[in-house]
Amino acid sequence: MLSNAQTPISGNQFLSSQLQAMQQDADVNPITLWVEKGQALWRDTCQSCHQSPETLRTSAAEHPRLITRNNSTRLINLEDQINVCRERVGQQPKGLEDNDTLSLSALLHSVAKGQSIHPQPPTDALGKQRWQAELAQGAQLYATRIGRLNLACVHCHDGKVGANLRAEVVSPGHPSGFPIYRLNWQNMGSIDRRLRACYSGVQATLPSAGSQPLRQLELYLKVRANGMPIDGPSIRR
Ligand code: HEC
Ligand code: HEC
Repeated sequence: MLSNAQTPISGNQFLSSQLQAMQQDADVNPITLWVEKGQALWRDTCQSCHQSPETLRTSAAEHPRLITRNNSTRLINLEDQINVCRERVGQQPKGLEDNDTLSLSALLHSVAKGQSIHPQPPTDALGKQRWQAELAQGAQLYATRIGRLNLACVHCHDGKVGANLRAEVVSPGHPSGFPIYRLNWQNMGSIDRRLRACYSGVQATLPSAGSQPLRQLELYLKVRANGMPIDGPSIRR
């Protein structure tokens, strides 16, 4: 077993040597094509307002973020923000796991590589208070037993790090490597999808995609991983 709890080790350290080799070779790494697609979409739909993707280099490390729009305040993650902007240019809102959303997310994470994860509360007092409340919700969800297996996130991602579980090795569950190309899915997926897969793993009722509990958990994971470098997008089993 690896040592404890809040070890700042990325999920990338838990890849088999075969998958590490795939990840390091751009010619066989499936993610290369996703990032290229993201670049093409960027030129068509994002460049006019944002110039180069590098201008948003810190974005992946700072989400989820608390925003207020039309009198309602909520946490949004990077994929949510991408969809906000796509609607802004008149495109139909698409799902979080839509290929275009994921390609743009892969691009924005790839330019964020090495940036320290540091989600930020809003600067005003009320916003700060609300952000702390969302974070506390996330921390509570992280420790709440769920599903027929009656396990909380903490039991696996702090308590069983290094253990084998259904042909996987349990990592500390850090959010640094997203989005992930998971061989199991034969597709790219966002952190939202991965978290729902963990609910499914313990046979719990799945929170719906994009719901606030998933954003609160993501915020908690990002705060827990504060200072770790973004090292996604990456391959997973
Ligand atoms: C029964 C054990 C178990 C529970 C409970 C569990 N997970 Fe997981 N989780 C896994 C396994 C196994 C994986 C895939 C291997 C890995 O990265 O740990 C995983 C992967 C992850 C990852 C992706 C890590 C990466 O780098 O790819 C995150 C993030 C995560 N879990 C968060 C959570 C959260 C949040 C909860 C609570 C809602 C949770 N998990 C509950 C077993 C569990
Ligand atoms: C019409 C101008 C416009 C276009 C086109 C646009 N955006 Fe934005 N974007 C904004 C504005 C304004 C913000 C500031 C936050 C807000 O109001 O949503 C923003 C914020 C963002 C952020 C958060 C930046 C930060 O501060 O961390 C991301 C990420 C982003 N946009 C991605 C995209 C992507 C991807 C596209 C292409 C699909 C895109 N945007 C197209 C105007 C635009």
